[in-house]
Amino acid sequence: MENSTKYSYMELLEKTKDSIVLGTAQGLIHWDMETMMPPNAVEQRSLQLELLSKIGHQMSTPPEIGKLLQQIQTSPGYSELGEVEKRNVYLINKSYIEQVSLPEKLVSEMAKQETITVNTWKKAKAKKDYNLLKPELKKLFDLSMQAAEILMEIKQTKTPYEALIDQFEPKMTTQKITDTFDKLQAGLRPLLDRIQEANKQPDTKALHQPVPIEIQRQISQLITRTLGYDTASPTANGRIDETEHPFTSGSYQDVRITTHYYVNDYTNSIFSVLHESGHALYELNVNPKWRYQPIGGTCSYGIHESQSRFYENIVGRSKEFWMGFLPKLQEIAPVIAKVSLDEFIHAVNRVERSKIRIASDEVTYNLHIIIRYELERDLFGGKINVDELPQAWNEKYAKYMGVKIDNDSEGVMQDTHWYSGLYGYFPSYALGNIYSGQINNALTEVLPNWRNQLTQGNLRELNSWLKENIHHPSDLYDPEDLIKKATGKNLDPQPFVQYLQNKYNELGF
Ligand code: CO
Repeated sequence: MENSTKYSYMELLEKTKDSIVLGTAQGLIHWDMETMMPPNAVEQRSLQLELLSKIGHQMSTPPEIGKLLQQIQTSPGYSELGEVEKRNVYLINKSYIEQVSLPEKLVSEMAKQETITVNTWKKAKAKKDYNLLKPELKKLFDLSMQAAEILMEIKQTKTPYEALIDQFEPKMTTQKITDTFDKLQAGLRPLLDRIQEANKQPDTKALHQPVPIEIQRQISQLITRTLGYDTASPTANGRIDETEHPFTSGSYQDVRITTHYYVNDYTNSIFSVLHESGHALYELNVNPKWRYQPIGGTCSYGIHESQSRFYENIVGRSKEFWMGFLPKLQEIAPVIAKVSLDEFIHAVNRVERSKIRIASDEVTYNLHIIIRYELERDLFGGKINVDELPQAWNEKYAKYMGVKIDNDSEGVMQDTHWYSGLYGYFPSYALGNIYSGQINNALTEVLPNWRNQLTQGNLRELNSWLKENIHHPSDLYDPEDLIKKATGKNLDPQPFVQYLQNKYNELGF
């Protein structure tokens, strides 16, 4: 490599490192706000967050970075850079040109409007009145559309909506998502019909025995220990705290999860902890050589979700896992000692046509996502507008899910995403499930015995396959390329559909 190119590259990495370190500090005070902060400290905290975000923006968009990028990319030494160096340059360039292309005024107006809209949403949802929300939503949508149009030029996507998707699932096109989701839906709907017509819906009484929160905390520790996510030892890199909505926060050496305990619904926290531990393991296992470099991040929201859903569902709702885990659970929580494995497995895999995404099961979950995807696509494509959104929502729920929406709070206003300015995010949830199905197939080919190992609480081989094939590549590839490398196959919803068909066959449906 030419010396001057190497020099510029090192300088570029040094500058980027500062932004990444600052980002970890921002993440930590955000975590504190959700978990530990006294209730009356909101104003002080928002000042701190605003200042950090301003500093972060300044640090990642100075003209020096533009100059360094220019020098590196036009120098003869560029072609001598290796795959890793080229990827770092690509990722820094991508984020830099996107950030400098959005006018500062638009960015700050969007941030303000997001806060206003999300607060109005909370009130409108409580009053079940979409009309209260509509004017603020229109403003936020218009600003997001302006940003999407600018990003479309920069990212060279076909539509503004595709530019938004790229923020969560790099390089994914609407054409590909539409085709994939159509196939997914064609596989899921007959399965859902079959399960619903079987007329033997499981009893879930066993899941609602009261389990004291202190005991549920012990259960969480047992789960994270079993999964190999250390939240308790003197050398731990993780911890568990409690919030209204569970989440994962952090990276590298400090990755934390939260959960919520309900005395009369102990499996709620169990599945949250399984889910968030999947996210945490991914963050902890990125290649340590690449820490504080852009390439040392995670690949996409969909790949992240594939890891959480893999541990939550493919592992965590399997019979094999519970063969080993239920007796341990019953030792800690004697109140559920009488529940049989069969009863438990049927209860945690109950399927129901539902209105609420976050309470839905493995089969219907993706239909919730497909509805949101199609509405976003049509909204940004100009086929429907903000006024027509509730009716379009209700029609899709009747058609795809077979349920009648009685009010907009259980309909179009149920999720925070659209009212917090998150457009293009939803597809990643279903893509995560699809990836997890492909990962399940690839894993089973290499380790045909992995499910049997679960019965002994042994996740070692499973964990090391995921670590090597999904976590370790970090952000070296875009998501579709990562899946292709890890599984040998292109994006395909069939393995996920097949996994569910097999599971519900075995459950007797
Ligand atoms: Co998640």
